[in-house]
Amino acid sequence: MSENTIERFDELLLAAKEAYQRAYAPYSKFHVGASALTADGNVVNGCNVENASYGLTICAERNCISHAVVNGQQKFKLIMIYTEQEKLTPPCGACRQVIAEFFVQSAQVVAVNHKNQQQIWTVAELLPDAFTPQDLLTN
Ligand code: THU
Repeated sequence: MSENTIERFDELLLAAKEAYQRAYAPYSKFHVGASALTADGNVVNGCNVENASYGLTICAERNCISHAVVNGQQKFKLIMIYTEQEKLTPPCGACRQVIAEFFVQSAQVVAVNHKNQQQIWTVAELLPDAFTPQDLLTN
């Protein structure tokens, strides 16, 4: 898919790159920036934030979604992940679960790198048969 088919691609990329610059990743040195387009048409971003207690690290995607929730946004159209890796960066398992909470199954997850290479998945492709709020509904 060409970049032009993604709604507000340039704005999302700029926001993801901005977050990438602010990543706090002194341990892994693996910087990640994310941005998301909300159903209301807002763009939010987030970066990874690591910790000396390594397991407390929060990924860029989850920070991006939390940032949006703080701003009153809980529905999204698309999330973008920006890294400067040759191999495009897909969301980790924990982030896939959090994405599945807030995005419809057909929403797009777009990985982009500094060479403007892209890979696009749907939420359903990344986490088929996800455990979602629906599963908590009692009979
Ligand atoms: N990371 C993200 O922020 N998002 C991903 O999709 C993959 C991994 C972060 C977590 C950690 O700070 C660093 O990348 C290396 O795993």
